[in-house]
Amino acid sequence: MSERRRLIAGNWKMNLNHLEAIQVVQKIAYQLDAKDHETTDVVVCPPFTSLRSVQTTLESDNIPIQLGAQNVYWEASGAFTGEISPTMLAKLNVKYVIVGHSERREVLGETDEMVARKVNAVLAAEMVPIVCVGETLEERESEATEAKIDRQVEAVISGLKPAQLNSVVIAYEPIWAIGTGRNATPEDANATIGFIRQLVGKRSASTAEEIQILYGGSVKAGNAAELMAQPQIDGALVGGASLDPDEFVRIIKYR
Ligand code: PGA
Repeated sequence: MSERRRLIAGNWKMNLNHLEAIQVVQKIAYQLDAKDHETTDVVVCPPFTSLRSVQTTLESDNIPIQLGAQNVYWEASGAFTGEISPTMLAKLNVKYVIVGHSERREVLGETDEMVARKVNAVLAAEMVPIVCVGETLEERESEATEAKIDRQVEAVISGLKPAQLNSVVIAYEPIWAIGTGRNATPEDANATIGFIRQLVGKRSASTAEEIQILYGGSVKAGNAAELMAQPQIDGALVGGASLDPDEFVRIIKYR
């Protein structure tokens, strides 16, 4: 059996202003105990405008939930109106950064090359990228899933040194399962995550064993247990269900 730690990350997307964010993170923290934190890395990814408030809440109350961001730009500073640099995030004790979420790829035009640059910049600032990959329904139906995932994973890992690869988390999020209430069957998710692990294994067998690979797409308290029971799945990237603190806590405690 794998000894990889479980990671449950809440992706709040464009929800929760800084006051709401404080309330939600407090409600999550209040319901988690030492045993939950012992087995699971718990991460919340608020919008940029709520990061500072959530950071101070976590630090002033010594809450062992990690802070994540939803996006970043790859340059360190300069004339890039509207963008946020890795060092700005690191200064807020952000530990994880979601990179290449399908909404950014599909709605905001992020390319594999941009995703790879962002991953490099996040690693250089000593944070952990959560790199999202996944196929559309069309791609799944035309049996193009593996080709798509191969391209997306390769674009990121081909430019990394083996030591850097150790600090990457990958999230497999089939696009057709995001926010739709449809999720991949646990067996399908397990198989695709196993495929991703094989791709990583071509670079480094030991990293393939250690790298945390999450499933994302309509994860809820009601389906978390069967997804997490799969040997390849190390945790979840949770969107909609992470906005409700009770539901998110039930996902963390699914055992
Ligand atoms: P969902 O989103 O849980 O609402 O499907 C997952 C994600 O987009 O990360």
